[in-house]
Amino acid sequence: MTKKLLLLTLITLLPKSLSARKELTPEQLQEKFAAHIMQDCEAKSAFDAIFSKQVVCDALFNHIEYETLKQTKQTLLKNGGLVLHDYCRKVVSHPEFSELLIKCGRERNDRAKWDNISRVCESQKMRNYLIDENITDIVVPDKWLYHLPGHDDHFCDGNYEVVVERLDILKGKESSKMLHDLPLDRARELLTYLIAMSYPDISDHNIYFLQDRETIAIVDTEEWHWANNPNWVAKRFMTLVNPETVRAILDDEFCELHKLKTFEVLYQELKAKK
Ligand SMILES: Nc1ncnc2c1ncn2[C@@H]1O[C@H](COP(=O)(O)OP(=O)(O)O)[C@@H](O)[C@H]1O
Ligand SMILES: [Mg+2]
Repeated sequence: MTKKLLLLTLITLLPKSLSARKELTPEQLQEKFAAHIMQDCEAKSAFDAIFSKQVVCDALFNHIEYETLKQTKQTLLKNGGLVLHDYCRKVVSHPEFSELLIKCGRERNDRAKWDNISRVCESQKMRNYLIDENITDIVVPDKWLYHLPGHDDHFCDGNYEVVVERLDILKGKESSKMLHDLPLDRARELLTYLIAMSYPDISDHNIYFLQDRETIAIVDTEEWHWANNPNWVAKRFMTLVNPETVRAILDDEFCELHKLKTFEVLYQELKAKK
């Protein structure tokens, strides 16, 4: 197939596969999300007061420009007591509820988008697996849908934010280095888990060591649909953990069990960015 034809085929296939997840009926959305709504509590009442303010919503929901970042931070702090941690990813916290973070979505008007709120169901799926398998040295934060005051109940990114259990993550290079240098048995456990979860978004911005330097946290649980393939997971894993460790994990038995290509093939594909 010529390159042009291949590209055309991909372009025609892509929207279908991406839109498939958007076409849930209201009943299916209800079933997926309704059990995970933040219930009445002190934090919810405080957030209701904050998110009722137009000035806060405008500051958070519009694209935040780097040039006006200082001003946006001040607006959020002055009007909502909110601290903006990550302006690109729109993560905020409130000092009175320091055990929580709010991960704000980007879509305001598209009722078919639930990329941000998908984090809530995925985190439940990932947490349940850890409980079932009795794995205690990997954690995934609990997450809840926070219903925005004045919005209708339809489950989409415009009507809800995601409130997450804040974990005491080890920031910066130390965590990355510890992940890179993971001992073989822990690396094998983590890769097995990530393959079981079809977790492709592997990076040191989504996976951290906690401050205890023992526990590994997977904080980003946005659902991805384009890559639920164990080979992709194994390849991405080599960008986090020393490839030599991955080479030792990917013996014949492991590759056969998880339907993986050999280490050499995956490593070459990674280098060729395939
Ligand atoms: N539960 C959490 N505890 C501590 N920090 C978190 C948590 N969730 C997210 N973060 C921080 O916020 C950043 C962005 O959150 P993430 O869930 O990865 O969103 P995105 O999909 O935008 O990358 C993370 O890289 C991490 O630094
Ligand atoms: Mg992330």
